[in-house]
Amino acid sequence: MIKPNKFANKNFLSSLDFSTDEVFHILDLAKNFKNKDLNIDLKNKVLGLIFDKSSTRTRVSFQVAMSRLGGTTIDLNPTTSQIGRGEPIKDTARVLSRYCDVMAIRTFNHSDLEEYAKWSTKPVINALTDLEHPCQVLADFLTIQEEFLDFKDVVLTFIGDGNNVANSLILCGALLGVEVRIACPKGYEPNSLVIDKAYDIYKNKKLLKITNDPNTAVLGSNVLYTDVWTSMGEEKQKEEKDKVFNGFTIDSDLVSKADKDAIILHCLPAYRSKEITDEVIEGKKSKIFQQAENRMHAQQALLSCLLS
Ligand code: CP
Ligand code: NVA
Repeated sequence: MIKPNKFANKNFLSSLDFSTDEVFHILDLAKNFKNKDLNIDLKNKVLGLIFDKSSTRTRVSFQVAMSRLGGTTIDLNPTTSQIGRGEPIKDTARVLSRYCDVMAIRTFNHSDLEEYAKWSTKPVINALTDLEHPCQVLADFLTIQEEFLDFKDVVLTFIGDGNNVANSLILCGALLGVEVRIACPKGYEPNSLVIDKAYDIYKNKKLLKITNDPNTAVLGSNVLYTDVWTSMGEEKQKEEKDKVFNGFTIDSDLVSKADKDAIILHCLPAYRSKEITDEVIEGKKSKIFQQAENRMHAQQALLSCLLS
């Protein structure tokens, strides 16, 4: 029976904190958790959650994942703890390391997460920053693997903003050797350091393409993926972005140009009729709710490795 391996890196701040083998191991474990073939006991282990931004899926899937493993969670609301009063990260990290066994943190600046991890003696998980959303893409690639069995000929096309989700799809896609295309308006490309890191990993550099044309990007694609045009913390740019992103909606016309067996993914929450239409979310090709469920299975796998 498969058992969780101890990983080289204690933290999961970026998709690149794990090796290709470690990502495949997480996906294998997650499948076993989903099929109820794996029973790992994390009794008395405590996961601390610090969320500086709103969350439904990430917060609840971590809470349920931990509960299924026999452990518990503490949801540290920044506004009612001293975190919101501005206690230095290095102090909070050293104190909470003495109470909790692992932390999941959602915040704005990626450097704040790195600062936390620097001072924490316990594993720290990125529950989303402005730069990356690595837990999300574990569930995404689990969903893709469930649908296509392997990643060999899969073309994943992300249409929309070159944001945290796009960055993590690029990095994890590079580790798994998946062809990733990003179609975004000019000026909204993914982080350039992320793109450079991905090109360093890909053996075949042609497998990563950044374009400004969604209609050609979707040709032959097996997975169409989108996310909100305006991420949390960017609310002031919403009006401008709604105009610039006109033409980047995943609607049935765009879906019809992709491979006939293409699936549709969205990390949620979605703005229907902005980045995706209601018809596409509710359509047969949509695997969006399977993808949301997979957050929990992937995070059970992640927690069992980081705490093994
Ligand atoms: N996809 C995702 O991270 O959702 P939440 O913001 O609800 O956690
Ligand atoms: N890009 C989105 C993802 C939400 C899960 C955001 O950061 O708001």
